[in-house]
Amino acid sequence: MSDQLISELEAAGQHRLADSIRVLPQDQADRLALEVASIDLALVTRLVDELVRTPAAQATPDIGPARVDRLPLPGGEAAAQHRRMAFEAGEQALRDGRVAVVLLAGGQGTRLGFDHPKGMFPIGPVSNATLFEVHAAGVGATRRRYGCDLPFLLMTSRDNDDVTRDFLEQHLMFGLQPDSVTTFVQGMLPAVDPLTGDILRAAPDRLALSPDGHGGIFRAMERAAILGDLEERRIDLLMTFQVDNPLMRPADPEFIGAHLLAHAEMSTLVVAKRSAAERMGVMATVDGRPALMEYSDLPDHLAARTDDDGGLTYWAGSTGVHCLDRGFATRLATGQAAMPFHRADKRVATVDDPEPAAPNAVKFEAFMFDALPLASATAAVEMARDERFAPVKNAEGADSPATCREAMVARAARWLEQAEATVPRDGDGASAHAIEIDPRFAQDAADLRGRIPSDLVVDGPLLLRD
Ligand code: UTP
Repeated sequence: MSDQLISELEAAGQHRLADSIRVLPQDQADRLALEVASIDLALVTRLVDELVRTPAAQATPDIGPARVDRLPLPGGEAAAQHRRMAFEAGEQALRDGRVAVVLLAGGQGTRLGFDHPKGMFPIGPVSNATLFEVHAAGVGATRRRYGCDLPFLLMTSRDNDDVTRDFLEQHLMFGLQPDSVTTFVQGMLPAVDPLTGDILRAAPDRLALSPDGHGGIFRAMERAAILGDLEERRIDLLMTFQVDNPLMRPADPEFIGAHLLAHAEMSTLVVAKRSAAERMGVMATVDGRPALMEYSDLPDHLAARTDDDGGLTYWAGSTGVHCLDRGFATRLATGQAAMPFHRADKRVATVDDPEPAAPNAVKFEAFMFDALPLASATAAVEMARDERFAPVKNAEGADSPATCREAMVARAARWLEQAEATVPRDGDGASAHAIEIDPRFAQDAADLRGRIPSDLVVDGPLLLRD
C-alpha cells in the first residue's frame, strides 16, 4: 500500500511526506499511510496550488446592500399575514413529511474551551439540560405535533463522533426512536506549510488534520449516502442549524414556509444586528449575487452605513440557520455547484514545531453560507432575535453560557406573561427567578395556553416539562 501512496504523494508534490513514510518504522509508516489514504489528496493538491503556492491576486469584491425584503418585527397587518401564510405552508410541508433537520455539531468549540463536544454543554437554566437534549426535545415535539418522521441528522467530526454517539446512546437518544437519528462524519483536511504547501504532521505517524468547515456538510452527506436516502423517502427540504443555539426551533414552520413561498433554493434565517460593531456575518450582495459577508470582511465604513431611516444598511445578521432544497444540496455535494474553500493561517502543533508562538500553518475550510451565491434563488427570513438567537460561543462575556441562559429565561418569562401568568421582575426588568420551558412542553407562547393555570405566579425556579 505504501509504495503506491508514496508515488501518489510524489506526483502531488508532497515529497517531504513521501520521504517521512519511507524512513518510518513499518508500523508507524502503515499508520501514517492509512491517514494519508483517508484524505482527498486531489482536493488538497488543488487547494495548495490555488491558495498557497500561487495564490491568485484577490480581486476587490463589489459589495452592495442585500435585497432583503424586510418584514418589520413586530410588523403591520401585511407582514403578520405573510408570516401566518408562511407558518401554514411550513406546517403543511411538515405534515406531508417533506422535511429533515440537520444539526451541525462537528466544530471544535475552541472559543468555549469545553472539554467535550459542544452539544454536551449543560445549558438549561433550571434543568441543566445539554444543548443536545434541548435540540432533541424540539425534534420530538415537532414530530408529535405534525405526525411526521422528521429525520434528525447530526454532522459530527472524526474528533468528536465517538463521544457524541456514546453520549446520545447513553441518554437513549433523549426519547427519539434510535433509527430516526443518524450521525454522519464531516471530512478532515490536513494543515500545510504556508511557504511550501507541504502537508504537516502532528506526530511522526499522524497528520495535522482538522475538520473541513461546516461547508463540508454536502460532501459528507453524499459520502454517507444520506441525500439518496432522503430522495427515496421523498424528503425535499433540509433545515440546517447550529448546535450552540438552544433558542432555535428545529424545523421552524415559519422559516420553512417562508423558504417555500419565496421559491428559494436556499434561505437564511436572519436577525437584526445589535450595533454596527457587532461581530456577526451580514447579508449583502457581492458582485451582484446574494451572499453572506463575514464581519471581518465587511469594511468598517460599510458596517456603519445607514439608510435614510437611520437603520443599518447591513442589518441582517446571519444565525447560521439555513433551509435548502435537497436537489440544490445534491448539486453542491456532487460538485456541480462548487463550494469555495478559504485559507486560514493558524497555530498548529506539528512534529517540527510542537508549541508555535505564531501562525505556522495554513488550514482549509469551507463555509456553508458560500452556497448562497450558487443558488438560483435565495431568501433571507427575519425573525425576532430574542425569540430565536442566543448562541454559546465564548466562555465569558458576549455570546456566553450566561447570556444564553439569560435569553432562555427572558423568553420563557415573556411566553408565560403572554399566557396570563405573573412573573416577578427584578430591578433590571429580568425575571426574578430562573424559568425554563422544555420544548416538549411548549414551543411558543400559544402552546402554553391551557397548559398552565392563568393565575400562575412564578415564586421560585420553575421548570415546565411533560
Ligand atoms: P463555529 O464557526 O462557531 O465554530 O461553528 P465552533 O467549532 O462551534 O467554535 P470555535 O470557532 O472553534 O470557537 C458554528 C457551527 O458549525 C459547526 C459547529 O459545531 C457549530 O454548530 N461546525 C463548525 C461544524 O459542524 N463543522 C466545522 O468544521 C465547523
